[in-house]
This record gives sequence, structure tokens and C-alpha cells, in this order.
Amino acid sequence: MAELKRDYEHENVTIIDHPLVARDLSILRKKETSTAGFRAAMARIATILAYYALKGLPLRTTRIETPVTETEGFEIDTSIFVIPILRAGLSLADAIIDFVPDAHVGHLGMYRDETTHKPVDYYSNIPDGIDQGLTLVVDPMLATGGSADDAISYLKKHGAKNILFISLICAPEGLKRINSTHPDVPIITAAVDEKLNEDAFIVPGLGDAGDRFFGTA
Ligand code: PRP
Repeated sequence: MAELKRDYEHENVTIIDHPLVARDLSILRKKETSTAGFRAAMARIATILAYYALKGLPLRTTRIETPVTETEGFEIDTSIFVIPILRAGLSLADAIIDFVPDAHVGHLGMYRDETTHKPVDYYSNIPDGIDQGLTLVVDPMLATGGSADDAISYLKKHGAKNILFISLICAPEGLKRINSTHPDVPIITAAVDEKLNEDAFIVPGLGDAGDRFFGTA
């Protein structure tokens, strides 16, 4: 029986341990996977990440009527804000919106400069009311952590308090950075990889998630 590796332990990091995640992550990692195959595997794994990320949602009770009798029902007791970091974050956003169709969606446009490896901001649109709900920041790759760090700081400046970061693959370097700059932000991920290479790409990783998801490689 194959065993999943658990090289990074931190109370703020949850690594999803599920055979479908292991299978789909392998499809995403394989360099010969087509754009269509990549999108399909990302959609499946995003659903599992979203399911785990939403596990702690607060509920309020309500009275409902079944065809037989009146009984207790439940409603989600918070507003939800989904913030994909463009572009690649879009690949994880729909799975959350499918579960929470009335979620507010904001966008943060950032790309990583190829030479400095530092994030460059080019767009932001943050919904009102973010100070009063649960904010889910999504980006499949946490490499140096620069983009996530900037995104979370920006959202905090806009009042976000209850923030969760959802990622597909993390490098230990990026995790350490977010754990130290934003110790209040839990991270949900499918894998913690070995390291960053000299180009600040995650190893073994899957290459550039945005390019592979959008077919722009
Ligand atoms: C990638 C990825 C993250 C960032 C991670 O985006 O989707 O946003 O780099 O790197 P970091 O942790 O070192 O900041 P990219 O710059 O490739 O932009 P894209 O999503 O438009 O492809």
C-alpha cells in the first residue's frame, strides 16, 4: 500500500489525505497531461479542497417543514468571500461557489516577476462587507509565499479578519513565510512538496499552474 509523505507539520496547515487527491495530483503533475485532462483533475481536486475548507462553517438553526412534519433545519451563518489570486486562483474558485452559490467573489490580479520572483499587482476588486464574513483566498501554488503574503495583507487592510488560504501545492519556504507573517491564517492544501528550485519553481510541483490550466504554455 502506497504511503503519502508528510514532511511538513504545523498546526496551521492541513494536508488533505485522500486517495482521489493523490490520484488527481499525479494527473496534474504529469507533464504529458492535456489541458482538458488538467482542467478536469483540477475541478475534481478543487471540490475536495473546498469540502474540507468549508468543514468549520458556522450554522444557525431554523424550523423547516418536511412533507411529513416540522423539524429543525440549518443555514450557513456567515457571509462567504472567495478571493482568487489571478490567474491561476480561478481554477479553485468555482468549486467553492458551487457549494456556496451566494458567495461574494473578489479578484486580486498578481503575477510573479520572473527575475525578482516578487509579486506585481495589476488588479484588485474586493467586495464590500469583507470585514464581516469568512474570506477564502485561493491560489493553487504557494511557492515563495510572496503573492499569498501580499494578498492576505491587502485583504486585512480592507478589514478581512477571518481568513483561510486554500492551495493545491505548497513549498515549505512559502508555508514558513505565511505561518510567520500571518499565523492567524489556516492553510488547506493537497501537498507540501520538497523545495523551490533556483527559478523559485516548486519541486517536483507541476510547472506553471496558470499556463497549464488556461492552455497558454
Ligand atoms: C503563480 C501562482 C501564484 C504565484 C506563486 O502565479 O499561481 O500566484 O505564482 O508564487 P509565489 O508564492 O512565489 O508568490 P503566476 O505569477 O504564474 O501568475 P498566473 O497565475 O497568472 O499564471
